[in-house]
Amino acid sequence: MKTLLVIDSSARTKRSTTRSLTHRFATAWRARFGDSSVVHRDLGVNPPQAIDQAWISSAFEKEPGGPSTALAESNMLIDEIFRADVIVVGAPMYNFGMPAVLKSYIDQIVRSGRTFDFTDSDENPYIPLVPSRPLVLITSKGSGEYEPGGVMESMNYLEPHLATVFGFIGLGDIRFVKVAREEYKDEQWKQMVLDAEQAVDQLSTSLSAEPALA
Ligand SMILES: Cc1cc2nc3c(=O)[nH]c(=O)nc-3n(C[C@H](O)[C@H](O)[C@H](O)COP(=O)(O)O)c2cc1C
Repeated sequence: MKTLLVIDSSARTKRSTTRSLTHRFATAWRARFGDSSVVHRDLGVNPPQAIDQAWISSAFEKEPGGPSTALAESNMLIDEIFRADVIVVGAPMYNFGMPAVLKSYIDQIVRSGRTFDFTDSDENPYIPLVPSRPLVLITSKGSGEYEPGGVMESMNYLEPHLATVFGFIGLGDIRFVKVAREEYKDEQWKQMVLDAEQAVDQLSTSLSAEPALA
């Protein structure tokens, strides 16, 4: 069996483009490996805690005095990542970047000593600690002008931010599935949804066929 971790971050529980595509991926996975092969982390419905003083004190303490309840959620979310063979993230664009719930998730999982480490090297000061595994990043935007050459290209902080931060902890093997123009619902948007569905079908087939991580 191979484990799929599905992370949804749309606040919409109905008519969400990203949710419909992550659901399609998960359905194909369950058909191949069974219900228990999919772990669903629904950030839109159950947002992670924003990190606070207790979290930072515990995470950055050099000599922790034992298990800390402040890091319990962070530990659980990080453990889920380490257990997954493949990760699928649904990320709508909200105000030019990711939804706040997804940023809270990122703040919980990017942790010194667990998902990255520091070194003394000037050339390579950070080491990712998450062994590489494929991450499928499914995004949806209202406008269609964020791609290279588009008039809003410089305003896209969604994929670049997510690619940077996931790459930072070791998840740099990212397969992008993008939908845009969701606010127009025109022929171009319909074609993008069809293309995205096809990409999801291809990725769920090819990634499920690869050997499981040791
Ligand atoms: C709170 C909010 C903020 C949004 N901000 C943007 C934005 O900055 N740029 C954009 O192109 N679309 C924006 N949109 C449109 C969404 O990106 C678009 O509806 C997308 O399909 C949402 O993903 P979902 O269908 O999975 O919920 C916003 C939508 C919402 C609800």
